[in-house]
Amino acid sequence: MRNLTSTDFLDGKRLFDDGGCASCHIPKMQTGGYSSFAVLNHRTFYPFTDMLLHDMGEGLASGFPSFSASPREWRTAPLWGIGLSEKVSGRVGFLHDGRARNIEEAILWHGGEAKDSQEFYKSLHKEHRNKLIYFLESL
Ligand code: HEC
Repeated sequence: MRNLTSTDFLDGKRLFDDGGCASCHIPKMQTGGYSSFAVLNHRTFYPFTDMLLHDMGEGLASGFPSFSASPREWRTAPLWGIGLSEKVSGRVGFLHDGRARNIEEAILWHGGEAKDSQEFYKSLHKEHRNKLIYFLESL
């Protein structure tokens, strides 16, 4: 995580929590103690995902099931490093099929179980939206 101490980052983090984003995009996790590679045991990391499937509504539905996932279910995308996507891969396209051209579009596509978070984002003033995006781009 970068820009950890700036006011925009801290305000953005608060908005991330207030918007219920952290209920699926879980910030902090710790590895267990059972790996045969000792270095991997009890490690704290910041994935910003629960690694679980969620019903994301009709707008994101694919029209067909994938294995045991229904057409509306997607795995929570990890947000760690999201601000570096363009630098790392040379292209930007968010969500399972890359349809969102930027982070804001990705948030606005949220529906289903994440509908309240989408509504929360839409209710924010521009200045607060910018702070939330700034926070995400700093991860
Ligand atoms: C109910 C669970 C849930 C909540 C709440 C939620 N998200 Fe998501 N988020 C997801 C899932 C699932 C995806 C992946 C959807 C897909 O691949 O089509 C996702 C994808 C994203 C992405 C795109 C990441 C990428 O690399 O493609 C961003 C950005 C994002 N969420 C931000 C947020 C923000 C900000 C909030 C709060 C305002 C939020 N999410 C609330 C489940 C959630």
